[in-house]
Parts: sequence; C-alpha cells; structure tokens
Amino acid sequence: MLRTLFQSDLSQLLVIEKSVHITPWTEETFKSCFQAGYIGWVVEMNKQISGFIIVALTMKECHILNLCVAHHCQHQGWGGKLLERALSHARQHGVNIAYLEVRRSNERAISLYKKMKFHLIGERKEYYPTVAGNEDALIFAINLQA
Ligand SMILES: CC(C)(COP(=O)(O)OP(=O)(O)OC[C@H]1O[C@@H](n2cnc3c(N)ncnc32)[C@H](O)[C@@H]1OP(=O)(O)O)[C@@H](O)C(=O)NCCC(=O)NCCS
Repeated sequence: MLRTLFQSDLSQLLVIEKSVHITPWTEETFKSCFQAGYIGWVVEMNKQISGFIIVALTMKECHILNLCVAHHCQHQGWGGKLLERALSHARQHGVNIAYLEVRRSNERAISLYKKMKFHLIGERKEYYPTVAGNEDALIFAINLQA
C-alpha cells in the first residue's frame, strides 16, 4: 500500500537509495528535503518500505526529485503507482506542470515516464556525475491540466 512519507522513514529510504542509485543521495540531502518541506509517499508492506517518491510542490509546478523502488519489487507497478499518487496530488492542488530529470542511459525510468505520458522537453549537458565522467540529464514534463 501507499502512504505519506515521514521523516522517521529516513533509515529505510537510505537503504533503498544506496541499493538502486549510481550516485545515491546522502542522509544530509534527505534531511534538507524534509527541512525544505518537500513531500512524498512510500510503498509499505508489513512495515517494510520498498519504494518512495519525493517531490517539491509549489503553486505552479511539481518537481519530481527522487523516485525509487527496491530491486526485489521492481517491475510490479509500484513506480507507476508512486508517480500517479504524486501527479494526482499536484493536480488536486491546481498545479499545471510536473517535470523531472533522468539520466540519458536510464532506459527503464524513461520507459516508465513515456508510459505515463511525460514528454521530453529538454536536456542538461553533463548534469550527473558517473564513475567515468559526466552524463546528460533528459528533462521530461507532463501537463497536468490537459
Ligand atoms: C525506474 C523505477 C522507479 C521504475 O519502478 P518500477 O516499480 O520498476 O516500475 P513499474 O513496475 O511501475 O513499471 C512501469 C514501466 O516502467 C518500465 N519498466 C520498469 N521496469 C522495467 C524493466 N525491468 N525493464 C524494462 N522496462 C521496465 C516499463 O515501461 C514498465 O511498463 P510495463 O510494466 O508496461 O512494461 C525503478 O526501476 C527504479 O527504482 N530504478 C532505480 C532508480 C531510478 O532509476 N529512479 C528513477 C530516477 S529518474
């Protein structure tokens, strides 16, 4: 099931974050998100978190900052459900657009965003660090009031 993300989820978020991301967020990055008032949701079963999404929501836009699902729960629809929850929350608050950045090489995530009707609107050159140099970010967006 999906529920709202709480600061007390931090230790479990870190475990998932480190297991799925090439350059994972640090504990400090998560804490600064909480301090900034960013919101999110988690997938939880038997008190075990297996995925989460964190977004920065303003009156005008919803910036999806982080989305991840633990390896053993991937490709079971949870990533899509987390994204849907965030988009529907933003829609209910009258927000017009949601956007995100994704590594050019992240075919799974790109395939999910296209399936959810996001459109490619731009790119940021060498945005992400990798073990061998930097990698471009693709920027995808969706019109929430269409
Ligand atoms: C990207 C991610 C969040 C997707 O979550 P998920 O729960 O696996 O996604 P879903 O099960 O909802 O899949 C929805 C769609 O995503 C794509 N997808 C997910 N897993 C895939 C896989 N193993 N191979 C190919 N496509 C895949 C498909 O388009 C899929 O649609 P389909 O089921 O009709 O084939 C997950 O793979 C993940 O956490 N990856 C590591 C972290 C990351 O890259 N986050 C995104 C950063 S921008």
